[in-house]
Amino acid sequence: MIIIPNIRLAAAADAGPIAWMSREYIEYGLGWSWTEQRVLKAIRDRSTNVAVIHERGSIMGFGIMSYGELKAHLSLLGVEPARRQRGLGAALLGWLEKCALTAGLERIHLEARADNPGAIAFYEEQGYRPIGTVAGYYRGTVDAIRLEKRLGRQPAS
Ligand SMILES: CC(C)(COP(=O)(O)OP(=O)(O)OC[C@H]1O[C@@H](n2cnc3c(N)ncnc32)[C@H](O)[C@@H]1OP(=O)(O)O)[C@@H](O)C(=O)NCCC(=O)NCCS
Repeated sequence: MIIIPNIRLAAAADAGPIAWMSREYIEYGLGWSWTEQRVLKAIRDRSTNVAVIHERGSIMGFGIMSYGELKAHLSLLGVEPARRQRGLGAALLGWLEKCALTAGLERIHLEARADNPGAIAFYEEQGYRPIGTVAGYYRGTVDAIRLEKRLGRQPAS
């Protein structure tokens, strides 16, 4: 039987597992800023979507995107190591981007650790372009590459 993963908005009970994934997959070596309380705040924030991708009740990945008037900001995106390179990250990002498109936003920004070339390659594959470097963005110790994706209608070919 083939199980197709589903994407849904996170519930309060997902805050703990999401915070754990953030610490393990994204904030390694930096200390822990996306604690359970902070994730819970994001889940309850009306201008933020916290999405999870799950299969048979088990969370395999998550993403957090905030929506402003003109632009959205992707705060976090992570997929369980054993499930990577299977399209789950792209599916989660696409789900969050669709909300930005539907809201008529112009662009999406995000920062990725400069020491994480795999993530930068992933974002470039999803249509994001590097627009700058932010020195010491993470706790003053790790630089960030800022990336941007412009939304809106593509010219007809
Ligand atoms: C970045 C991340 C979310 C990508 O998730 P994923 O489910 O593995 O990505 P996908 O399978 O959807 O990848 C889509 C495409 O992106 C590219 N890509 C993905 N991971 C890549 C890597 N490590 N190196 C180079 N290209 C990569 C590939 O072109 C891939 O397509 P392909 O598998 O058909 O070649 C995942 O690697 C991850 O959780 N990393 C740790 C946390 C992290 O760095 N998060 C981002 C910063 S917040």
